[in-house]
Amino acid sequence: MEFTKKIDEVRKFVRQWKKEGLSVGFVPTMGYLHDGHKSLIEKAVKDNDKVVVSIFVNPMQFGENEDFNDYPRDIEHDKKICFDAKADLIFNPDASEMYGDNFYTFVDMNIITKGLCGKSRPIHFRGVCTVVSKLFNIVNPDKAYFGQKDAQQLAVIKKMTEDLNMNIDIIGCPIIREDDGLAKSSRNVYLNNEDRKAATVLNKSLNIGKISINGGEKSVEKVKKIIENEILKEKNTKIDYVEIVKWPNLEPIDVIEKPILAAIAVYIGKTRLIDNFILE
Ligand code: PAJ
Repeated sequence: MEFTKKIDEVRKFVRQWKKEGLSVGFVPTMGYLHDGHKSLIEKAVKDNDKVVVSIFVNPMQFGENEDFNDYPRDIEHDKKICFDAKADLIFNPDASEMYGDNFYTFVDMNIITKGLCGKSRPIHFRGVCTVVSKLFNIVNPDKAYFGQKDAQQLAVIKKMTEDLNMNIDIIGCPIIREDDGLAKSSRNVYLNNEDRKAATVLNKSLNIGKISINGGEKSVEKVKKIIENEILKEKNTKIDYVEIVKWPNLEPIDVIEKPILAAIAVYIGKTRLIDNFILE
């Protein structure tokens, strides 16, 4: 497995692979890798001849009062996970390599970046779209892998590649969970013991919502209430949002007709966690 902090070197490796007729898969991450990231890398390894993993905590996608400085980092541990998953190249640039002194260009998107996480994180998806566009231009992959854990991000990146005619297949991958149902996340490390137990309420409340939909409930308002009530049974929780929207265009709906995305963001103490399910 190769490791580089330099854009030119990534280009050199990929150019050589393409010359040999090899396919290239790409998994963008912010590091502090866990089994969720690993599942994406393993899927990419299965589908492609060569796999690039980027590890870059992208300052542009964090709001001023968000956790950019505290975001967990452990590059040695990340290297081990990438090695075990059989990645071929890690790209771990510094911010100066990605943004330089003067950086004027943004990739922004309307409509589907405005709801859900975009409401409380207004500049987040502009940062995500910009960095992912840059990474796509650097790596030039055939396929790129994104987790359904960040369902809105998956929808946004799919739409961006379609709108901008990027010739890259975006592959969505299922949510990997802890044994008690909590979706794996780099941010779970922020949770103390008590918060960690409370955090299971995200998946639990979604499951109760799913049961009511599968039992025939069609009202978005009613299912949202069921999920909200379940979350609020747990003390120390604050709801950022509970939403049910059309999948994958994220349009607001009143009546549940598949395919739909049910997505929630909940503060457990100071830690903001997200989870969701899709009914196709
Ligand atoms: P990060 O949060 O590190 O996530 C990298 C990828 O791993 C994303 O596609 C995310 O959806 C996926 N992932 C995270 N937890 C997962 C889980 N429990 N199960 C399955 N997949 C999971 O998302 C980002 O980084 C950044 O926004 C990025 C796209 C790298 C741009 O900076």
